[in-house]
Amino acid sequence: MKAWLLDSLGSIENLRLGEVPDPTPAPGEAVLDVEYAALNPADRYLAEGQYPAKPTFPHILGRDGIGAVSAVGQGVITVKPGDRRLILRSDVGVNRPGTFAQRVAVPVESLVAPPARWPAQQAAGAPLVYLTAHQALTNWGDLPPGVVLITGASGGVGVASLQLARAMLHKVVGLSRDPIKSQKLSDLGASLVVDPNDGQWVRKVKEHLKPQRVDLAIDNVGGALFNQVIETLGEHGRVSCVGRLAGPVPEFNTAALFFRRLRIGGIMVGAYAPAESRAAWDRILALLDETDAAPIVDSVHPFDQLKQAFAQLARGPMGKVVLKVS
Ligand SMILES: NC(=O)c1ccc[n+]([C@@H]2O[C@H](COP(=O)([O-])OP(=O)(O)OC[C@H]3O[C@@H](n4cnc5c(N)ncnc54)[C@H](OP(=O)(O)O)[C@@H]3O)[C@@H](O)[C@H]2O)c1
Repeated sequence: MKAWLLDSLGSIENLRLGEVPDPTPAPGEAVLDVEYAALNPADRYLAEGQYPAKPTFPHILGRDGIGAVSAVGQGVITVKPGDRRLILRSDVGVNRPGTFAQRVAVPVESLVAPPARWPAQQAAGAPLVYLTAHQALTNWGDLPPGVVLITGASGGVGVASLQLARAMLHKVVGLSRDPIKSQKLSDLGASLVVDPNDGQWVRKVKEHLKPQRVDLAIDNVGGALFNQVIETLGEHGRVSCVGRLAGPVPEFNTAALFFRRLRIGGIMVGAYAPAESRAAWDRILALLDETDAAPIVDSVHPFDQLKQAFAQLARGPMGKVVLKVS
C-alpha cells in the first residue's frame, strides 16, 4: 500500500510517500481501507520529537480517520468486512502506524459507527478534537451554565469546544486573530469574539460580561496570552490547558491564582481509556444532535498533498484539515 513515511524524528518536511506491506489485523483488530484522514498539530509535534511517543520507524502519522473494514483479526465479532468505521483517539498514529496510508490496523475497541447524518469527510476529523473538548469542559466536573472562554477558537479543538459548550448552555467568548473566522465563530454561537492581538481585548471581554466573569478558560495557545486569560477569570475560575501553539508562558506569577482561588489543570485526550472514549463519544453525539451542530471542515486535500495540508494547518484553520486518501 501507499503511505506517508517518517524515517526518523526531525520534521514533517522529511515525510515521503512510499510503498509498505499492507497491515494484517492482530487478534482484536480490524483493518480499514482509509477513505479520509485528518491532521492534528500533534502529528507535527511527534515528527519533531516534541511528543512523548516511541514509534518504530518508518512511522506512519495520522490519528483520525474513517474507512471501510477490509479484514478482521481473530476473535472479532463486532465488525465485519464492508462496515464503515470511525477511529476514536487511540495509539493509532502515535506508537503504531496511523491513517496517512491506504490501510490501517485498529483495535476494534477504538472503532465506532459514524453518525449517519455526517458525510465521511466531516466525520473523519471529529473524534480527537471533540473528545479533547469534552475532557476540557468536564475536567472540573459538570459545571453549571456559566461563561467559557476559548483561545484558538477557530481551530479543531476550538470549534468543537464552542459547539459542546453551547450545547451545555454556557455563554462562549472566543479568541481569533482573523476577522473572517471571528464572524464564523459568532455565527456558530459565540456571544463575543475578540482578537488576542488587540491590546484592549481583556477590557472588552470584562465589559461584555459585566457583572459575570469567565468561569472556565480552554487554552489552546499558551504563550504570553496565558496571563491575560487569567485576568478574565472570576472567583474559583478554572483553566483547562489543552495546547501551547504560542509556546511556553514566558513569565508566570503564582500570586495571580491566590485571590480568586483559581485552578489550572492539564488535558490529555490520550488519557481516556477506550471505554471512557466511547462513553464520552456517545455524550458528544447527543449534545451535538440536541443543538443541530456538526463538525466543520476547513479544507480537504488530495492524498499526495499532505505537506500542503500541514501548511494550511500551520496557517490556522477554521475547523478540521482533512486528507482524502481514497
Ligand atoms: N492536550 C490534548 O490532549 C490535546 C488534544 C488535541 C490538541 N491539543 C493541542 O491543542 C492545540 C490546538 O489544537 P487544534 O487542533 O485546535 O489546532 P488548530 O486546528 O491548528 O487551531 C488552533 C488555532 O489557534 C490559533 N492560533 C494558532 N497559533 C496561534 C498563536 N501563536 N497565537 C494565537 N493563536 C494561535 C489559530 O486561530 P486564529 O488564526 O483564528 O487566531 C488556530 O486556528 C494544539 O497545540 C494541539 O497540539 C492537545
